[in-house]
Amino acid sequence: MCGITARVGTDGSLGPLLDSLKRLEYRGYDSAGIAVQNGAGISINKCKGEVSALEDALATVSHDGPIGIGHTRWSTHGSPSDVNAHPHTGNDGRVAAVHNGIIENYVELREELTERGSRFTSETDTEVIPHLVEERLAAGDDPETAFRTAIDRLEGSYAIAVIIDDEPAVYATRNGSPLVIGVGDDARYLASDVPAFLHRTDQVVYLEDDDVVVLTADDHRITDLRGTPITRPIETVDWDPEDAEKGSYDHYMLKEIHEQPMALRQTLHGRIGDDDVDLESFPPGTFEEVDRVRLLACGTSYHAGMYGEWLLSNNGVDANTFIASEYSAYPAPVDESTLVIGVTQSGETADTLEALSAAREQGARTLAVTNVIGSTAARTCDDALFIRAGPEIGVAATKTFSSQVAALVLLTERLVRDMTGEPTTDYETRFDALESLPDHVESVVNGTQAASISQRWLGDSGHFFIGRGGAYSVALEGALKFKEITYEHAEGFAAGELKHGPLALVTPETPVFAVGTGHHQSRLESNVNEIQSRGAPVVVVAPRTATRLVDTADEFLPVPATHPDLVAILANVQLQLIAYHAANEMDRSIDKPRNLAKSVTVE
Ligand code: G6P
Repeated sequence: MCGITARVGTDGSLGPLLDSLKRLEYRGYDSAGIAVQNGAGISINKCKGEVSALEDALATVSHDGPIGIGHTRWSTHGSPSDVNAHPHTGNDGRVAAVHNGIIENYVELREELTERGSRFTSETDTEVIPHLVEERLAAGDDPETAFRTAIDRLEGSYAIAVIIDDEPAVYATRNGSPLVIGVGDDARYLASDVPAFLHRTDQVVYLEDDDVVVLTADDHRITDLRGTPITRPIETVDWDPEDAEKGSYDHYMLKEIHEQPMALRQTLHGRIGDDDVDLESFPPGTFEEVDRVRLLACGTSYHAGMYGEWLLSNNGVDANTFIASEYSAYPAPVDESTLVIGVTQSGETADTLEALSAAREQGARTLAVTNVIGSTAARTCDDALFIRAGPEIGVAATKTFSSQVAALVLLTERLVRDMTGEPTTDYETRFDALESLPDHVESVVNGTQAASISQRWLGDSGHFFIGRGGAYSVALEGALKFKEITYEHAEGFAAGELKHGPLALVTPETPVFAVGTGHHQSRLESNVNEIQSRGAPVVVVAPRTATRLVDTADEFLPVPATHPDLVAILANVQLQLIAYHAANEMDRSIDKPRNLAKSVTVE
């Protein structure tokens, strides 16, 4: 996820663009850049780091201009660096472009353009865009036609803004990534999200996919891909500029729960082949020398690690998960044939980094499964697999859990094939289910009854969560989410372990959420009966096809039927929503719960 912005005014655009980038920084903050033009050429400033680094760099810049574009980046193609930062230009520097999204056919376009003489300087997918536009300008197209012809070649999801050295306009379009126009008194704005310019105007035009916009200081002209004019209403945004940074959502957490389909699409993008996974840095054979796998993590990432352990173990791999802070207390056998996987959203959690470092000293090979390119874990481990979930602001991790698990499902396939010589059981149907996962999550988020169910037992003495196998890790995660943001007592248990102690806590005042996946179904049904006979209400979270379980439920939160290995990921989304709505009703500080931090960099 990245943030793009643009401005066309009559005065200098550098300052307003910098302002907008600061407000878009939640969308990505590993590099930033601005291009401005004043009719006599384009001047670009961009650098690795947060927007403040760009601001420092701009302090000594004198070149300003009324027309400009800006970008704050969350790397997906190419590591964070000055060169990979946007805006990008073509050979002649006539065109500068910023882009949010993924150009799926960029490899083919790059080869084709290279053959015709384009020289590429970055590793990004974006750079093909200015080259395509420049090529059409050189062929004699007028600017708008050149822009249209270029975007006609693109496949994927994108929001794009382009400036041309001697044209008093910004050219823009979108397909699957957000883009909105701001109509000011003396300038027009464009951005991935309204907060970018809300402090300057509350008059906005929301663009639709395939709209093409030509923005000038006093006009915005919208057409479809064929050039037919389109009228879109100017709307007044009724937001406080400070709150609007969460978009239309009350909390970042809710926004991030809703972003999960997009996050998962990015996690899975290009990584599922016809008959095998296609993990960029991990071709077949990468892990042939590995005998056993250890996963190290904290908090939500630990639960994702447990999910990975369960899947690996079910497919014949010796795997164990450790709470990273406890790792040094366990003299677990580790040697050169051990792969130690650090699962860490931020890549900066001190406990996880320390455990990885201890494993490295023991000779283990290390791999980071992380969201942050350029993080310490990514840099210090032998290898990294990026989950590409985009920035997560809410302290309670949501979309990154789903993306971590999806990435671990992919990695499991590579590990199992390399270590056992066989694919995982059922891999074809699991691949199909993975492809459908974003849509399935979307249907859960859009159709959930979690808001009303979460209110039924508010204030009860405890909320319990149970599951078996992969659903056990989700039971733990469901309880963690609930306690993190409601501050109420919540516990997750392995369903079969209830009878060995926790059942003593179960009363009519302790609702139990039971996660049914299709694995070990009849045993879970017995556990539910044990709970109900003690008077506790049971909320079943399962596909409708689990009829016996569903029929006994006091409440039911459905998830789409899919491969049983993936059902718990969907159930987890329902549990995120339960925690969110309960905490919201209790008026808790959802995005910044007391005593907790997003990234814990102390041991
Ligand atoms: C903190 C956060 C948790 C997170 C954990 C691990 O405790 O509050 O939400 O799961 O750190 O973070 P990591 O960045 O390593 O995944």
